[in-house]
Amino acid sequence: MYLRLPIIALLYTIASAATAAPDGASLYSEHCAVCHGASGTGGVGIPLAVDSLLSIVSDDYLKKTIRLGRPGRIMPAFPKLSDAQINAIISHLRGWSDRKLEIMPEKPVRGDARHGKVLYAEHCASCHGKDGEGGKGTGVTFSRHRDMDIIPPALNNPGFQAATCDHMIQQTLIVGREGTPMTSFLEEGLTEQDINDIVRYVRTFYSEDDPDARTGEDLPPTLIVESPYSLEETVENAKQAISGKNFRFIRTQPLEEGLVPEGEENSRQVMIYFCNFNFLFEALAKDPRIGMFLPCRITVVERDGVVQVMSVNPMYLSKLFNNEELHEDCRTMTGIYRELLDEISL
Ligand code: HEC
Ligand code: HEC
Repeated sequence: MYLRLPIIALLYTIASAATAAPDGASLYSEHCAVCHGASGTGGVGIPLAVDSLLSIVSDDYLKKTIRLGRPGRIMPAFPKLSDAQINAIISHLRGWSDRKLEIMPEKPVRGDARHGKVLYAEHCASCHGKDGEGGKGTGVTFSRHRDMDIIPPALNNPGFQAATCDHMIQQTLIVGREGTPMTSFLEEGLTEQDINDIVRYVRTFYSEDDPDARTGEDLPPTLIVESPYSLEETVENAKQAISGKNFRFIRTQPLEEGLVPEGEENSRQVMIYFCNFNFLFEALAKDPRIGMFLPCRITVVERDGVVQVMSVNPMYLSKLFNNEELHEDCRTMTGIYRELLDEISL
């Protein structure tokens, strides 16, 4: 008798969980809060709990922003969330503002892009970049720079351009975003026509390209070469090649160190750690996630008499990160690894 009640309660909970609508607050804290802050005040991502943002952006804008992300910037795409989950997240965001949502007209804003280009260079480029590429870095805080201003988003971004509409950009320029460096340009003295001209110019950044398209190379996740030398010689070659490239050799250790009892590691599998500290700090300042594959390491293994040298392929990993600057660093690192592996096995 006492047992039956909890079991019925449990069955009831399971049944209702299966049919319950997705919970926007918990989806938000799972997928967004790390960057945008638990209550939308910003972090690695820009603030979202801003009346003048939430009162002008349509659900469609928010939905597309979440679906497409901002390729090449840090804002990820969320292709796997269902429509119902995205709608739940949007309702959660809407809860941060009680200002009435303005309905944006669909018809295009009319203006003169050539005049807009001149005004853009004068009023916008200092923050949003000469070609709308956005500020360096991201969000309001970054690595050590906790007091940094909000980083201006990229306006030439295919994810932004696919999500936004002329009138949203126009309203952003007219009202600005209170509490952020983005001021009202009507108050700054531009006319409505000037603003429309700028909108037309900003829309020239739009291209119909698939925002998901990344550099189309089919990249292997690891780089591997065979070495004609013994394991010991190969490790020596590696140390020399590393210092020849201005990296600091840190240490070698058995691949299995820490994974099997001490002394029982396979001595024919060696990991070589090395680093270039300037590069490390610059890369970490751009995106702390690069710490996942730094310091640099190369593995040398001997199996059935064959010695192989291998490393991760940073460019393969960078596809996961959605950050153009990091992508460039990863491209450089892949180049360095390739050269090292060639030299070691030459
Ligand atoms: C002082 C720096 C600064 C200047 C100058 C500035 N912006 Fe911004 N802008 C920002 C910041 C920061 C944000 C993000 C605000 C936020 O957190 O919501 C922003 C947001 C925007 C957005 C919304 C982008 C998005 O992803 O939602 C648009 C559009 C925009 N700015 C256009 C312009 C244009 C066009 C000009 C020139 C007329 C301009 N801005 C001038 C800093 C600036
Ligand atoms: C890894 C960090 C990160 C995560 C996770 C993230 N964002 Fe962002 N988000 C950003 C950054 C950074 C920007 C600004 C884009 C830029 O710098 O060009 C942004 C921009 C946005 C914008 C545009 C704001 C504007 O002013 O127009 C919205 C909306 C947004 N994010 C919502 C979300 C939601 C909802 C989630 C969770 C489903 C999410 N983001 C997850 C980093 C993130």
